[in-house]
Order: sequence, then structure tokens, then C-alpha cells
Amino acid sequence: MAAKLAGRVALVTGAGSGIGAASAAALAAAGAAVAVTDVDEAAAAAVAKAVAESGHRALALRLDVASEAQWRRAVATVAEELGPITVLHSNAALTAHAYYAADLGVVDLSVEVFDRIIAVNLRGAMLACKHVVPGMLAAGGGSIVLTSSVKGSTGSAHRTAYSMSKGGLDALMRAVATGYGKAGVRCNAIAPGIVATEAIGAVPPAQLAALLDAHLTPSLGTPADIANAVVFLASDDAAFITGQVIDVDGGLTAHTAALSPPGTRQAPSTTPEGNLG
Ligand SMILES: NC(=O)c1ccc[n+]([C@@H]2O[C@H](COP(=O)([O-])OP(=O)(O)OC[C@H]3O[C@@H](n4cnc5c(N)ncnc54)[C@H](O)[C@@H]3O)[C@@H](O)[C@H]2O)c1
Repeated sequence: MAAKLAGRVALVTGAGSGIGAASAAALAAAGAAVAVTDVDEAAAAAVAKAVAESGHRALALRLDVASEAQWRRAVATVAEELGPITVLHSNAALTAHAYYAADLGVVDLSVEVFDRIIAVNLRGAMLACKHVVPGMLAAGGGSIVLTSSVKGSTGSAHRTAYSMSKGGLDALMRAVATGYGKAGVRCNAIAPGIVATEAIGAVPPAQLAALLDAHLTPSLGTPADIANAVVFLASDDAAFITGQVIDVDGGLTAHTAALSPPGTRQAPSTTPEGNLG
């Protein structure tokens, strides 16, 4: 059987680590030639090397997604070296702890921090679509997957800018799906729950346990869990799926923990308080 993505050319942003690195490897294993891009050039090169060593076609590129000039160059280079891009996984975000710590409630949020987070997380995805869609239209179609977050559609007392960037990304996704769907371009977003990447090492154990408790699955997510969904959405198996935010979140958003902690069995309630919600 032919590989699902044989003949496709994929570009992944933020592919130097975590979810993006797993996505690059999974797209390549499914048959795509993959442009492994990241603002961290050495990280992109290491991932591309590993993909190539496992027998697949990969090209490493430095790409700061917030820069339009770099997008122009990257899309031209990929078209020249691998062919027109027909799969885009726009995944990069500012995940550095300094931005996490400075992304506060709106009253305390600095304009500089807000602007930088929006520039990378949201403008970066807009530029990705702006520069990749024309090639997809010329090629007769393509599939775009944006990495959103459950925070794009749930309230958060801090991480105001991050949450806004992900909500904006969901709107971008619907705009692209609506604008170019008839021409064969599908666009979807994945909203991951908590995925155990390197960054999780910095989370205090008690907080990690609380996070795990809030999921309905026995474990937190892995980068491969998200990558599998990316490959599915990129492939023709998902030909009738567009304009959707797909929660790949271990059931995190499927319940309200305060009303019903996962895994508890209760006798039918006899008190009015037991009927809340
Ligand atoms: N890990 C989780 O629990 C989780 C949950 C929800 C959403 N997400 C989203 O998943 C995506 C990947 O996150 P991750 O957890 O794999 O984190 P990660 O830190 O492992 O990966 C982020 C990558 O983006 C790159 N990057 C940062 N700024 C960039 C820029 N300006 N241009 C290009 N690349 C840049 C980094 O160098 C890094 O390689 C992000 O969009 C994040 O918001 C992650």
C-alpha cells in the first residue's frame, strides 16, 4: 500500500523540539518530504538529520515565523529543493519560560510582552498561510494544520496573550478554510491538552499531579499523540474535515472537574446540593 502522504511536501514550524519534531518525523514516516524549520537553526538541523537517517527526505531551515521576509525566502527555498508545499503544520509558539512568566492577567500585562507573543504565535501563523496557500492553490490543493491550545477557548487568569493568540489562531483557521476550501485547501486546528515535552520538567510535582487529574486518560499526552492527529488531518483520510478545532486533549475539556472529578463513582444523590449543574 502506498504511504498516505507519498508525493506530498510538508513544512513544519517550531520543528526543532516537542510536538513539531514529532510531527516532522511522523509526516516523513507517512511518505512526505519534510521541511524542518525552527528559529533555532541547530535544533532544526538535528531533527532533519534524524529524519534523514531514518530513511526519509528532510531539509532543515532557519525560519523565524514572525518575519515576513524569512517566510518569502523559506517558501521559495522549499519549492526549489523539495517542490511545492502541500502540507503545512504551523506549530511554532513562544514557549520560553520568560514569556510564560510575564504573560499575566490583563491589568498587569506589558504591551511589549503582549506584542511579542502575538507576533510569533498569531502573526506567524497568518504569514504561514499567506505565503503557503498560493502554492497550494497552484498545486490544486493542500492541507493546513495549526497548533492551537485548549486555552484558545477556555478562560485563564494568566497567560492572557497566549490564550488570545490561540483564540485568534482558531479564527484564522476558519477564515482560511472558508476562503480557499472550494479550491481544495483544507484548514484545521488541533487543540492539545497537556503534552509532556521537555518544558514539563520545570512543572512542580504537585501541579503536575493536579494537571494529570484533570485529564480523563491515565497519562498526559505525548508529542506523538499530536503528530498522529496531524498526519491524519494532512491526509486524504480527512478529506471531508475542514474548518474545525479538533481537541486532542485526553478529555481535559470534556468535563468540569469541580462538578465531576474523573474516575469517581457516586451513589444517586438524595440532597438538593447533589443536583448542582
Ligand atoms: N506542550 C503542551 O502541553 C502544549 C499544549 C497546548 C498547545 N501547545 C502548543 O504546541 C506547540 C508546540 O509546543 P511544544 O510544547 O512542542 O513546545 P516546544 O518548546 O518544545 O516547541 C516550540 C518550538 O517553537 C520554536 N520557536 C519559538 N519561537 C519561534 C519563532 N519565532 N519562529 C520559529 N520557531 C519558534 C522553538 O524554538 C521550539 O523549537 C505550540 O504552539 C504550543 O503553544 C503545547
